[in-house]
Amino acid sequence: MDVKQQQVIYHDWESAHYEQKWAISFDQRCIEYVRGRFLRAVPGGGHFEKVVEVGCGTGFFLLNLAQAGFVGELHCTDIASKMVARCVENGRTLGIDVHGSVADAERLPYPDATFDLLVGHAVLHHLPDLDAALSEFRRVLKPGGRLVIAGEPTYLGDRVANRVKQAARVGVKLLAVVAGAGAVLATDHADLAAEEHRAASLEPHVDLHTFRPQDIEVLARSVGFADVTTLTEELTANWFGWATRTAEAMLKPGILPDRYPWLAYRTWQTLFAFDDQVLRRVLPKDVFYNCILTAAAPAD
Ligand SMILES: C[S@@+](CC[C@H](N)C(=O)[O-])C[C@H]1O[C@@H](n2cnc3c(N)ncnc32)[C@H](O)[C@@H]1O
Repeated sequence: MDVKQQQVIYHDWESAHYEQKWAISFDQRCIEYVRGRFLRAVPGGGHFEKVVEVGCGTGFFLLNLAQAGFVGELHCTDIASKMVARCVENGRTLGIDVHGSVADAERLPYPDATFDLLVGHAVLHHLPDLDAALSEFRRVLKPGGRLVIAGEPTYLGDRVANRVKQAARVGVKLLAVVAGAGAVLATDHADLAAEEHRAASLEPHVDLHTFRPQDIEVLARSVGFADVTTLTEELTANWFGWATRTAEAMLKPGILPDRYPWLAYRTWQTLFAFDDQVLRRVLPKDVFYNCILTAAAPAD
């Protein structure tokens, strides 16, 4: 199957439980997270009048950015129509107007020089032709318009994260042996109807890249972006994040207490501060997990 067809089938299926899987919310916890990532890329923030998110999913980045007050007119686009529908619906629930379009990031349905800001979160690593996608991002930005792409996995960070996920799986299985598997473990994909099972089983095929930060910079410059910078963050915070997310996905809904997302977030914040204020001073950029790219379309 064509890789883009796989993205559509997998992400359309995932849209129904995406927010639960990633503990996505549109409250203070996620607004704070998105505000923090955005200020890293654009110190001082500012206000961007016309904004689009590419690969918007259910609206985690765009809608929380809107709630943080940085953006005006909102557009969202994704290759999976159910993701776009959910993003627009989530906007409606929050009282935020969003114009949605179903589109491939490599062929955006907007005229040249349309946007003041183009954002993406955890999307670049799904795109087969990065050169084509970044060229499109540049084309639809106004001269001087800003690009902010966050949440992309680094090559080294991803390798370590895979070990953490394996360890977390073993930990939850041991817990299940003690507590009784039926009592704590969610049903796995084998219990899904055939079509859903087919969609769920595409998960290992949709993550296409990890990145060395300097390679993304070279790519962004090669399609004409100016003022290109990458920064990386999260080391121990990321290990904690992957361990908890792996466990959450394996456990039955309702096992974790209501306060769990906030508790997990506060622990993540403490580790994040340690990574940021201590480890980032002494370790190389490439070992941290999350890469943020920021650049500007050249001014005329
Ligand atoms: C990991 S999700 C991230 C969603 C959202 N940005 C977030 O952070 O919650 C990746 C998204 O990229 C979308 N995607 C994958 N390939 C794409 C493509 N070629 N063009 C546009 N969107 C794509 C998927 O459908 C999915 O919604």
